[in-house]
Amino acid sequence: MNKLILAAIPAAAFTGYAVYENAASLSLRYESLGSGVRIAHISDLHRRRFGRNNRRITSLIASEKPDLIFITGDIISRRQTRLNTVEKMLRELVKIAPVYVIFGNHEQGLTEEFINAEVQERLIEIIKLSGAKLLRNSRDFIIIGERRLNIIGYEPDYSVYKSDGCYTDLTPVTKADIVDVLGECPKGETLLLAHNPLFGKAYAEWGADYTFSGHVHGGIVRIFGKGILSPERKFLPKYTKGVYDFGGKKLLVSAGLGKLRLFNSPEIVIYDI
Ligand SMILES: [Fe+2]
Repeated sequence: MNKLILAAIPAAAFTGYAVYENAASLSLRYESLGSGVRIAHISDLHRRRFGRNNRRITSLIASEKPDLIFITGDIISRRQTRLNTVEKMLRELVKIAPVYVIFGNHEQGLTEEFINAEVQERLIEIIKLSGAKLLRNSRDFIIIGERRLNIIGYEPDYSVYKSDGCYTDLTPVTKADIVDVLGECPKGETLLLAHNPLFGKAYAEWGADYTFSGHVHGGIVRIFGKGILSPERKFLPKYTKGVYDFGGKKLLVSAGLGKLRLFNSPEIVIYDI
């Protein structure tokens, strides 16, 4: 009996922690890579809600006083049809700083997998009406202080994520593929938003000074600082969370906010660059 109780204590603690992490935790991660521009980065919210209308997210970001806010895809899940919370969150975020949004595989999948084109249309409209900017293989620039920043959103071919509905024989992304879609990297400081971090080397070769990514959810379960599984069902994916350096060009990967996770708290990342 005593042995049973002794075994039940760690099991209950583990379960309690897992429930807490998936229902209540939200962390801020700070990355100091320079100074002058502060960027708040969120990714992969999926269906998760952090307080009414995601108020916990918006108030945490507001308290950090960012110059820019980046949302790097999967703001919804592909089967989601209710967009009210996303709409309200975007309307709050644009009051804080200019907001740039890209699509992840879930938003792309709405049309690519013929799931619900109407939801994608509604989401595009919601983003537009909120005042946030949706970058689908398109670009913008912004001047902050003395700096002129190119901000570019990359949306790869959907075969990067799924091929005939499966996760095998996926297409890689090379520098040439990026040039095909975006043209040569513009002169000046360039910030790229690209949902899938797997092609971090190609983004750097293309010329992006900073690439903001998500998608991998930190590897779902994190053990000894390593993410275990990718959305493509690959073990130990290369880039799961943190700052990766490619000869001075940086790949910045958020572990995201939504989906089930373990030892991998949902996060908002604050960068000073
Ligand atoms: Fe994704």
